[in-house]
Amino acid sequence: RIIIEDLRSEFLKNYVFPALKADAVYEGGYFLATALARPLIASRLVSVAGKMKIKTIAHGCTGKGNDQVRFETSIYALSSGIKILAPLRFWEFKTRDDEVAYAKAKKIPIETRSKKYSIDENIWGVAIECGELEDPAAKPPSDAWQMTKPSRKGEMKMKVSFSKGVPVALDGKKLKPSEIVSKLNRIGASYGIGRSDIVESRVVGIKSREIYEAPAAAILHASHFDLERLVLDRETLHYKEKVAKDYAWLVYSGRWFSPLREALDGFIEETQKKVTGEVSLLLKPNGFEITGRSSLHSVYRPELATYSAGDRFDRSHAEGFIKLFSLDISKK
Ligand code: ARG
Repeated sequence: RIIIEDLRSEFLKNYVFPALKADAVYEGGYFLATALARPLIASRLVSVAGKMKIKTIAHGCTGKGNDQVRFETSIYALSSGIKILAPLRFWEFKTRDDEVAYAKAKKIPIETRSKKYSIDENIWGVAIECGELEDPAAKPPSDAWQMTKPSRKGEMKMKVSFSKGVPVALDGKKLKPSEIVSKLNRIGASYGIGRSDIVESRVVGIKSREIYEAPAAAILHASHFDLERLVLDRETLHYKEKVAKDYAWLVYSGRWFSPLREALDGFIEETQKKVTGEVSLLLKPNGFEITGRSSLHSVYRPELATYSAGDRFDRSHAEGFIKLFSLDISKK
């Protein structure tokens, strides 16, 4: 029996958007598409196992990657007494070539072209590794990129609206989360937006080179943080930037179902009350610019910021402020 479910809405709403609100990006280049999907898949596995009275869950993760950690940690967090079977940790195959050869010999239909790389894909992004990508000094071959094809010419304006930290509309048109993400992926991919190429620190202690394609994630993360700079007070913004790093590590290391993640969500949710507004973008070949932002909760005060007429900032306080601000490190 095989059970196939469309979990895109739940994935975006309950896993991707919380991470977006947290500004969670791993090591500066990974929007966590794979890492966020694992706890959701694990929770479905556990509930199906419960309903069907299944005692063992098997998975096909390699024995040296992050995904085994994420699946198993999530399964342990959600159930008790379920056994885990991970054949790739003990079977006879040593290399991907061995596996391909076995499949061929047994006439198991697989797409060998794509077997040059290991690819994981979902609505939030694509991750590609192995093969020629294993040399971190070498440029990724052009056939490694699966989704982004920089072919579109010219520029395109785009407005993203957020409500309490969640994207809700494009160019003023209300859309479902999956529509927003799919549309940004489609347009972004045609401009070659959202590629990243990083050497990353795996949970199991090794460095690996992975390339990522996540056009919608790149656009939404940049826009979301841009809006936060407009609406959040300095101290909350700075504190939240530190939380973002911890949140990214929690997600990356498979500890989604943990008390700390829930507690951080409480903090993040509080900060998002004000993150409602619009961000204007200019999409272009191989990138995008943020060209403006607005919000009813803006804490930008033109009468204080201006260098022109109407300035109400009282400069006479500056001297005393600086003296006290530097008192503890001052030589005199
Ligand atoms: N390195 C990424 C992560 O740990 C992606 C893992 C799956 N990647 C792959 N190409 N199969 O989340």
